Amino acid sequence: MKSRRKNATLQFLDIKSINTDPISQFKIWFDEVISSGVQEPAAMTLATSTRKGIPSARIVLMKKFDEKGFVFFTNYKSNKAKQLELNPNGALVFHWKELNRQVRINGKIKKITGKESDDYFAIRPLLSNVSAVVSPQSKIIPSRDFLENLFNEFYLKSDNKKVERPLYWGGYRLSPSRIEFWQGRENRLHDRIVYVKRKSGWQIYRLAP
Ligand SMILES: Cc1cc2nc3c(=O)[nH]c(=O)nc-3n(C[C@H](O)[C@H](O)[C@H](O)COP(=O)(O)O)c2cc1C
Repeated sequence: MKSRRKNATLQFLDIKSINTDPISQFKIWFDEVISSGVQEPAAMTLATSTRKGIPSARIVLMKKFDEKGFVFFTNYKSNKAKQLELNPNGALVFHWKELNRQVRINGKIKKITGKESDDYFAIRPLLSNVSAVVSPQSKIIPSRDFLENLFNEFYLKSDNKKVERPLYWGGYRLSPSRIEFWQGRENRLHDRIVYVKRKSGWQIYRLAP
């Protein structure tokens, strides 16, 4: 059967020309993703696992990144939060299919400071914050009506004013120890360049696709 898959773009990755700092390299790619009009550019798969290593994965939105790591926001009583309490090791995956690119990141995940979470909560739309307050994320609920009633009751009480961030909602930061950049190439002979954090700095090498 003839493959319908189109050849990859002509982009490539090379150790000689790639940035020696993976966060700077991520920024170059992320800026290109934004300017290419990719839908949900910040959507990333977050994998966590139980203490015994049973994994689960879901999409979250990356809201900030810098030398310290990659930040996302969630409910601190959710399933992922419970897993992170017992096992802080996590993994992130971005897939930007329009650019034939994937980035895989591993590292430890920790809560950000209350101040950082407050600052972000303060700039979110009011109704998103009402949802964050009322949704008992990852818990079984009896019906959609149950959730909508919680939402409406809280919204009426809030009187269209600012909502305080509940202590059970906030950010996490994954501090990277390994970052892999994958660029799709022609004939599936793809590029994979990996950065691994060592005491002396980032070690960079190429992997077979
Ligand atoms: C595009 C997209 C973006 C999402 N962004 C977030 C997010 O930033 N934070 C979050 O807690 N859940 C987000 N979710 C929902 C999660 O995938 C997941 O359902 C939720 O966090 C509960 O996961 P858990 O039960 O494993 O803790 C998003 C889902 C999608 C499809």
